[in-house]
Amino acid sequence: MSGLQPWTTIELPRFGDARGTLTVIEGLKHLPFAIARAYYIYDVPGIVHRGQHAHRNLHRVLIALAGKFEVAVENSDTQARFTLSDPARGLYVAPMVWTDIAGFGDDAVLLSLVSHGYEEGDYIRDHDHYLREVKVRAQ
Ligand code: TYD
Repeated sequence: MSGLQPWTTIELPRFGDARGTLTVIEGLKHLPFAIARAYYIYDVPGIVHRGQHAHRNLHRVLIALAGKFEVAVENSDTQARFTLSDPARGLYVAPMVWTDIAGFGDDAVLLSLVSHGYEEGDYIRDHDHYLREVKVRAQ
């Protein structure tokens, strides 16, 4: 999976008719990785920041299943911000990208689909540590 962009939005299929809309996600077909784990975050107070970390090996796709929130992403070269509010649009985030997720609206539900099981050792939770590690990897 090398050569992927550090982050990119992904449009997911929508099957809509008078009964409503259905969106489907298949790993490897709609996402650039096989899905090993899903988790979701909800009941987040509007002033809270979550996801202040990077992963060494984990690929992620973030989706606003309901409501909205903002995702700030950065790596050694650049940074960007995305407002997610569409359940048929995901934000792919590669390994070694720092994320900060904030601005959760009432009733927001953030779904994360990720490439590996939970491993605390895969997390970089300190931003200074992240900046040092990402610089070393870029050399
Ligand atoms: P945390 O990583 O702090 O959430 P955020 O995405 O906001 O940074 O995770 C919160 C808690 O949930 C923490 O105690 C670890 C636990 N957790 C698991 O046990 N398994 C998981 O797959 C995840 C993502 C978190």
